[in-house]
Amino acid sequence: MTINTNVFGNLEEKSLELCSLYSSFGYELFRMSKFEEYSLYEKYKDFLVSDSILSFTDIGGRLMALKPDITLSLVKNCIPEKNKVSKFFYKENCYRSVKGSGFKEITQVGLECIGAVNCSIVGEVLWLAAQSLENISEDYVLEVSSLDILMAYMSGLGIDAKIEKKIINCLGEKNIHEIEDICRSVDMAYAIPAFKKLLAINGGIEVLQGVREFCDEFGLEHEYFQLEKALSIFEGKPQAERIQIDFSIAENNNYYNGIVFSGYINGVPDSVLSGGQYDMLLKRMNIKASSIGFAVYMDKLAPVFKKEGCEEDADNENKLLRIALPKGRLGEKAYRMLEKAGYACPEIMEESRKLVFENKEAGVCYFWAKPSDVAIYVERGAADIGVVGKDILLEHTPDVYELLDLGIGKCRMCVAGPKDFTDDRSSTLKVATKFTGIASDYYASNGRDIDIIKLNGSIEIAPVLGLSDVIVDIVETGTTLKENNLAVLEEILNISARLISNKSSYRFKSEQIDQICSCIRLAEETK
Ligand code: PRP
Repeated sequence: MTINTNVFGNLEEKSLELCSLYSSFGYELFRMSKFEEYSLYEKYKDFLVSDSILSFTDIGGRLMALKPDITLSLVKNCIPEKNKVSKFFYKENCYRSVKGSGFKEITQVGLECIGAVNCSIVGEVLWLAAQSLENISEDYVLEVSSLDILMAYMSGLGIDAKIEKKIINCLGEKNIHEIEDICRSVDMAYAIPAFKKLLAINGGIEVLQGVREFCDEFGLEHEYFQLEKALSIFEGKPQAERIQIDFSIAENNNYYNGIVFSGYINGVPDSVLSGGQYDMLLKRMNIKASSIGFAVYMDKLAPVFKKEGCEEDADNENKLLRIALPKGRLGEKAYRMLEKAGYACPEIMEESRKLVFENKEAGVCYFWAKPSDVAIYVERGAADIGVVGKDILLEHTPDVYELLDLGIGKCRMCVAGPKDFTDDRSSTLKVATKFTGIASDYYASNGRDIDIIKLNGSIEIAPVLGLSDVIVDIVETGTTLKENNLAVLEEILNISARLISNKSSYRFKSEQIDQICSCIRLAEETK
């Protein structure tokens, strides 16, 4: 009897197809329980994507968890044989807290290789990652990076771990302007050109030449050849066109090393596949072996199947670059910059209540959004790029690229309060703010115990009416503080507007996005 897999629906059908692909390459099915002892995650907490874990006590009194991750359990239960590679695939559910949505059951289909993992195994895994994406949609990109190149270059700089972490975060955001600030702040301006070069390496397999030049310059030939060998599996194959080398994949380097990669599908706002070598995790678990694996996040694939049937509409819509602007003065200034850069859409400045404006010739579609919502539109892929204040990026930490500091909307995030206020630390400090994340981080780094009062606007009246001791808020001209008899007590950081991009849009509209960034830069330089 042949089984009709269609009855399961698209996602289940795809999962089965992926499993059958991995099995055809000799991978064995690995089944596991939904539960795991909590202590495993306590020990390797920073390996997890999110730190909230659903836990419970079993009848024997053991603290258990609903599995938030598959790799840790698989590695824990695998005993690698000497000089051999154990190859497994799985289709499992895990339980993670997702930003703003509480806990979710997430279906992952993936594979792991543990043991004597060499370059040809790494190549095979990259090949299977590309095949997995191709099985889901022809319009995909497999983004590949080498953490070894990045980390070897960084360790040559001899910088301290905190600065290194900050730079890695900025690389992950393609945020070269902040890397420049960090380098200058630690007398390391000489490293800026190298970081610029690394971030500029961004394209198909042909950019390997640029990687080679970078590696030759810094004596990283061995690291370069690892990357070249891993990618050689694509030589002469049509899939080579789907590979993008990009050093902004900056995974947790406490666990990952070597080749790391992410998969994107056009129309899905987030990466749908992620993987890499994780020898450092094995080392921390005292397992003498190497490893590589990846997971496909099946739940993220829904838009691929929804799109089917209305492809023409979606295609037309997809061609314009969708730009979210913050309603108000900052948005108007940002629009003027874009206009000067050659992306005019005059209708946008006319008096009306319309929110969406297109200029097909310029290839753009603008829309006005509430300033604090711009990052949400971009992160979720409803906009390809957007303009947003650094305050919002720090407060909500959206998973986006931060491509440019536009240098407009400049202000400061400050602690303010009555002019004569001094914090004698004799009691918990009451802090009113819209920016609870920024305020908590600031006081935590100063070791100060605070009571946060979340407000939504007119923050300045909180200390005036005795609701709080101080406020953490934005100060632009200082007029609001002055007129309410308040003063800046401490400066936390400087703020300005940034141009951000959705990560998936950057893969599929990279020419348009790079073009708009260069035009803005050029227009600013020649003003
Ligand atoms: C912001 C901020 C301050 C004010 C500072 O308020 O929260 O209240 O601007 O500007 P100034 O230093 O030039 O006086 P916003 O206008 O966003 O309104 P809000 O009170 O609703 O936050």
